[in-house]
Order: sequence, then structure tokens, then C-alpha cells
Amino acid sequence: MDVSVWILFPLLCLWEASSGQISYSVSEEVNKGTAVGNIAKDLNLNVQELESRMFQVVSESSKKYFDVNLKSGVLFVNERIDREEICGTSEKCSLSVQAIAHNPMSIFRVEIVILDINDNAPSFSVNSLTLNLTENIVTGERFLLPVAKDVDVGSNSVKAYKLSPNEHFSLDVQSGGEQSVSAELVLQKPLDREKQAVIQLVLTAVDGGKPPISGTLKIIIHVMDINDNSPIFSKSLYKVKVAENVKIGYKLIRVEATDIDEGMNGEIVYSFVGHGNNKEYDIFSIDPHSGEISVIGDLNYEANVGIELRVQAADQGQYPKTTHCKVLVEVIDMNDNAPQISVTSLMSTVREDSESGAAVALVMLSDKDGGKNGVVNGHISGTVPFKLQSSYKNQYSLVVDGPLDRERHPQYNITITAVDEGTPPLSSTSVVTVHISDVNDNPPCFPEPIVNVYLRENSPVGDLVVSVIAHDADENDNAHISYSLKGNAMASSLININDLTGEIYSLQSFNYEETKRFQFQVQATDGGVPPLSSNVTVNVFIQDENDNTPVILPPYSDQGSVNSENIPYSAEAGYFYQ
Ligand SMILES: *[C@@H]1O[C@H](CO)[C@@H](O)[C@H](O)[C@H]1NC(C)=O
Ligand SMILES: *[C@@H]1O[C@H](CO)[C@@H](O)[C@H](O)[C@H]1NC(C)=O
Repeated sequence: MDVSVWILFPLLCLWEASSGQISYSVSEEVNKGTAVGNIAKDLNLNVQELESRMFQVVSESSKKYFDVNLKSGVLFVNERIDREEICGTSEKCSLSVQAIAHNPMSIFRVEIVILDINDNAPSFSVNSLTLNLTENIVTGERFLLPVAKDVDVGSNSVKAYKLSPNEHFSLDVQSGGEQSVSAELVLQKPLDREKQAVIQLVLTAVDGGKPPISGTLKIIIHVMDINDNSPIFSKSLYKVKVAENVKIGYKLIRVEATDIDEGMNGEIVYSFVGHGNNKEYDIFSIDPHSGEISVIGDLNYEANVGIELRVQAADQGQYPKTTHCKVLVEVIDMNDNAPQISVTSLMSTVREDSESGAAVALVMLSDKDGGKNGVVNGHISGTVPFKLQSSYKNQYSLVVDGPLDRERHPQYNITITAVDEGTPPLSSTSVVTVHISDVNDNPPCFPEPIVNVYLRENSPVGDLVVSVIAHDADENDNAHISYSLKGNAMASSLININDLTGEIYSLQSFNYEETKRFQFQVQATDGGVPPLSSNVTVNVFIQDENDNTPVILPPYSDQGSVNSENIPYSAEAGYFYQ
């Protein structure tokens, strides 16, 4: 260690010696034994006499900082001297000793000025300082810092403060005049907790010693959150496809938003927006905490091919911030709808003489499903004289496809089947009843072409001779038969016919002896347009009764009494010979 001894102004010393006081100066902290000054010489004492005069130095303080070498008369440092321990922070510091010699008794007062060396660093009362600052404080705001103390004095005391380089704060140190030093942090650039939540600074106090020594204070700034960030969804548009037949509780999709704020400011609650006036939202629920959207109702492709949901994420800050996203739900069709058949009749009945190709009804097929699930084909089951003719997509005509005959089939129950192309396919059937209307295609018909009637002679006038009844397979007017006499004009004087019933009455009493037989035709005519008719031949044979006395008739033949009659070879049944 560099030891320096200063002897202040010898003239002053001499003056002080004469007044009984001399002064030295020595730096604090010098090694033991360091010479302060030759006290014997400065007191004008003979070095050889020191021992005999029992020269000694007596400390005025409790410690014996100095002693004297009786051989050389040199005052030297005997104890470690700490200026700060002795004088604290006072600028001036000195120790006094009494130098005493005997024979004759002399007392000298010696003052030793303790010179400061820069042996103390500036220090702060605490090692670290913690500041909690909200991130929204404005630039220019100031925060008081503790100042450092340095027990050294003068230029060895605190001279300057430095703040570690940082982008947010500057240091403002005010001193001078009566005021004590004050140091303040000044915010220069706004804080952002989300970028840097903790800022660590070091405040360094440097003294003016050579070399200077410094002391530091750690400043820890916790940036306190404010709700200055909105939640952000991971996507602004979520798309999801879902089959229309998923079960209740099906987890559809999870939306996710994040909020970089802290605590409640960053805690997110999810909800649907606009669900009040939109029924589609009733099909879904959203978990407020996880953002998971589930299906809680019936999805129906046929009602909603696509559904747009709007979801809000709100943080739970005192003044919550919100964000929105959209979720597009595409409903995928499943073959859950059977085809539908709608039949529009074109006519209430179909004439039995309708030609093939005549349209009877319009058949519309439909299916609410989409894609192949909604493609429908129609056909007729069983064998009927009708067919489906496709007019265009899903529209068919039910047309006649063969001869009709009301008399055999007055009505057809036609089963139309519609099948879609889904997997598995769904089908449905519809029965169309077609009524066939009558056409006058059947004449009245007598059971026999010839009717033979045997009538007793002398029967009363107006007797029922016979009833001829024809049948007509048609109906209504086409089957409404009227009867009339035809042919033999003579017959109309003999008999009379009821044109409605076909009952034939006699107009006279017959005499076998006059009329043995006669023949007439009855025509039955229906009410169709045009009418149809048929004839029956009625042979009336009068039967003899014993109403005459026997008379012998002479034979009329020229060839004798043999009775003979000639019948033409071509005579048919019913030929009447007169
Ligand atoms: C058609 O259906 C109706 C009603 O089911 C039934 O009364 C009628 O006998 C059926 N006709 C034919 C020809 O099957
Ligand atoms: C019925 O008889 C009348 C008169 O003899 C005749 O004109 C008509 O053609 C006959 N009708 C039939 C269907 O034979």
C-alpha cells in the first residue's frame, strides 16, 4: 500500500510547537508502523534523551492509534485507523495525542489529521426495490428512488448515478443548493405487460474517488395487467361438416380464442351471438369455458343445408373486451326421407274405349334428400293395362297401355312404387284407383234366339202370352232396353208388347181351328248413342181344346185320302208352314 505522510507547513508547525501544538496528517487505513512524523525533532527534543525523559504519547481516545519510537523519535501508526469509524461522515477528522516528557515535565498536544481515502463504496439502504406499475401509466410519470450513501467524504462521496440501459425509463437526479439529492425514474416509453411483464434495472451510484467505487440497487418492476387486449380466435371462420343424423350430444367442433391479458382480463367465456332471433341456434349448445359446440337438437339437411353460427369470446375484465367468429356447419344428407308420390287425376273416369297412350293422371315423384338419396324412379307393380311414361325429371304420366273393358274390369287399383337411389334405398307406394266408364259396346242379348210359346185356344183376351227379356252388359242408358215388335204386320193385330218389360199380351182369343200357329220378332234396343239392338223370334203354337163336335172331312187330295205336305229342303228351325 502506498503510504504517504504529509508534514503540513513546517512554519505552521513551528508556530504550533511554540503554542504547544503540532499537527500531522496521515491517511486512514495505512499499515501499522507507518511513520507519521519525527515528533522528537519537531518538538525540538534530543533523541538521545527520549528514553531518559520517559517520552510517551497518550491517546485521547480509547484506542492507542499512535506510538513513538524512542530510538528514532518517529511517531508511527499503531492501530488500523478507519476515518469513518472515528469521524463518521464529517468532513474534518483528526485524532489528538498528548506527547509527554519528564525531567522537566513537558506536555505537547499533537493533532493528527486523518485523511480520507476512498475505501467505502456508495451503498443503498436496501439491496433491491420492487415497484408494481400498471401498464397504462403515461410517459413522464416519476417514481422516487432511494439514494445511496457513501461514508467517505468529499470527492470520495457519491458523485453520480447511472441507470442500466433500458427502453422504458430514464433517470433524473436532482441535487444542489440546500436540497438533498433525489433520484427519480421517469417513464419514457409506455409499458406493455404482454411484451415484458418484469423489467429489471440496476441503479448504480458512483463516488468521485480515484479510482471510483460504485454501489448498486436492483430495481424490479412488475408490470401490472390492465384489460388492454381483446380475445383473438384461432380462426375467424371455422368450417365443419356433419351428417344430419348425428346423435344428441355429438361434439361438433371446438372454437378457441386466446387473450394475452392476465387473470380475469384473459379469462374467456364463449357464447352464441344472435341466438335470440334464430331458431337454428336451438340445435346447438356451446360450452362457455371450453368453446366446444355440441349438437343438442335435430339437424335436418332438408331444412338446413348450411347453418352459420356466430360465436363471441368475451374476457372477464372489469370492462370486458369481445371478439367474434363464424362457424359454418355443412349438414350432410343421409337417406332419411322416403320418396313422395303425388297423383293428379286428369279425368274422373276413363272410357273403356280409350286408346293406348291416353293420359289418365299426372304422377309427381319427389324426395327431400339431396344427391343420389334424392334421385327417384317410379314404376307400376303388377300387370295392368297402364304404364308410367316419363315426361321429364320426376314427372310421369299414367297412360293407358292396353285394351280396357269396363264389363270385365270396371276399376283398377294401380300401385305406383317410387324408389330412391340411396344406400340403402327407400321406397314408397301409392295406389291410384282408376274407374272405367261405360261405352255402348254391348247390344241387348236374348238368352235364346227363338222362343216357342204354346197357347191354349179360347184363352181370354189380354192374357200374358210370353215375356221376352234381353240383357245388356253395358250400364245405365247403354243398358236401358226397350222392346218392339218387328216383321209380321199381322202379328200386331194379334198381340201387343209392353216396350219396357218385354211382356207380350194377346189382343184376341185364339181359335185353333182358325189359327194353329204364328210367328213374330221382338227387337230389343238399348238407350246408347248410337243404340244397339238384337232380335228374338217368337213362335206361338195354339193348342187345341175339345170345343167342336167331330166332323168327318172329305179328303182333299186328288191322289186319294193320303194327307201330305211339302216342306222346303232349306227350311230352318222355326220355319212356319201355312
Ligand atoms: C280397389 O281398392 C278398393 C279399396 O281398397 C277395393 O274396395 C276394391 O275392391 C279394389 N278393386 C280391385 C279391382 O282390386
Ligand atoms: C231384326 O229384324 C228386323 C226386321 O226383320 C231387321 O230389320 C233387323 O236387321 C234385325 N236385326 C238383327 C240384329 O238381326
